[in-house]
Amino acid sequence: MSKIRKAFFCGNCGFESAKWLGKCTSCNEWNTFTEEILQKPTKQEEKSAVWKDDSKIRNRPKELHSVVTENRLRIITPDGELNRVLGGGIVKGSLILIGGQPGIGKSTLLLQFATRTDQKVLYISGEESEEQIKMRADRVGIKNRNSYIYAETNINTILKAAKQLEPGVIIVDSIQTISSPFLDSTPGSVSQVRECTGELQRFAKETNIPIFVIGHITKDGSIAGPKLLEHIVDVVLQFEGDRNYSYRILRTLKNRFGSTDEIGIYAMDHTGLREVENPSELLISQNNEILSGSAIAASIEGLRPLMIETQALVTPAIYGTPQRSATGFDLRRLSMLLAVLEKRCGLAFGQNDVFLNMAGGLKVSDPSIDLAIVAALISSLEDISVHKNICFAGEVGLSGEIRPVSRVDQRVQEAARLGFEVIFVSKYNYKDEPSYDLPIEVKTISKIDDLLREVFS
Ligand code: TYD
Ligand code: MG
Repeated sequence: MSKIRKAFFCGNCGFESAKWLGKCTSCNEWNTFTEEILQKPTKQEEKSAVWKDDSKIRNRPKELHSVVTENRLRIITPDGELNRVLGGGIVKGSLILIGGQPGIGKSTLLLQFATRTDQKVLYISGEESEEQIKMRADRVGIKNRNSYIYAETNINTILKAAKQLEPGVIIVDSIQTISSPFLDSTPGSVSQVRECTGELQRFAKETNIPIFVIGHITKDGSIAGPKLLEHIVDVVLQFEGDRNYSYRILRTLKNRFGSTDEIGIYAMDHTGLREVENPSELLISQNNEILSGSAIAASIEGLRPLMIETQALVTPAIYGTPQRSATGFDLRRLSMLLAVLEKRCGLAFGQNDVFLNMAGGLKVSDPSIDLAIVAALISSLEDISVHKNICFAGEVGLSGEIRPVSRVDQRVQEAARLGFEVIFVSKYNYKDEPSYDLPIEVKTISKIDDLLREVFS
């Protein structure tokens, strides 16, 4: 019936080639091709156009308006942050992929869900033994007496067991460890990952049971296995953070049932992951001493306002070439800001080492923190501290202009809520003078020179 066919696949993007290639012609990655065995129908079967056969089919096209949607379509989890990133709970029959670096807390996050929800949960583990998981579950506390653990890696056995158990939610930890006996390649290979995910997707859609799938990520940060894994699933979540700090951010990269703007914030402690409702309060250092080189940014992550402390240290370079180093911020953007300060304001950073740090080990990509960074840099260079009750929100352009930022009202409100007395924002954010009924003074500036005059004179 079927004959064995071999092909080579790029481990990065899933590109298929008949022969081995050193460099992938699709994604330009080097040394990513591996040989895999496929089974395909013979030519004869392919040619006898199946659609000409008039026999009845079970699944027919339906009129869109006549499709009934169930009332209780979403399962609300006890984890508020998880509900938020999923767009208001788990949609029945959806396949959700969670990616993240090893040790970041993916297993902990889903185990916590399994032990706290009121659903019947089947937790499939191909990585850890039942005892290991029990030990961890004891640590985070088992409240749900209806969660099941299953150490198995064969996809067919898993789905059979799942069908008999009829759980409300299935968790697969991780996709790289399970395999289909119909394929010859090793678990974690492109064809195995693709086959197993496809199988899980079919199962989820047919039984209406939502499935969480944990996926490892490669060192450059993309989800391991082919990119097409992300196309197969309904939701892609990314769990990120610095392992040396306790904060973790759960981001939505793709969501077929909601927006991708939401983020969830957690803190990891000895009893597992804890939801953080007021992240700003944690990210601002609590010492009352006023030191130079620190400024607070009113930033936005996803849809949530977040006050972040930025710290800069500018010291004379002793060894030849001055160093520039940034943690949690793009180094090229730091170089650009330094160039702007040098050229537009005549501040001499050229002979100085510059170190920049975001509090809490966060990676920040919101351009509105530019203004706080500039303030921190000037503060450290001139050794003049920025008062603790001031915060900033503005993007800095190449000519030294302060550019407007999105959701400015939300930033001002958050700053006022946390007791800041002054916030600097771009003049271009407002047509008229800003007016808020809040105990905060909103100062608008249009150039870095204004900042120098208002804060550092
Ligand atoms: P884990 O969920 O195993 O990560 P992943 O599945 O993403 O690889 O998380 C493991 C880390 O979390 C481990 O290094 C220890 C830490 N941790 C705690 O700090 N407290 C806890 O209660 C638990 C369960 C884990
Ligand atoms: Mg794990």
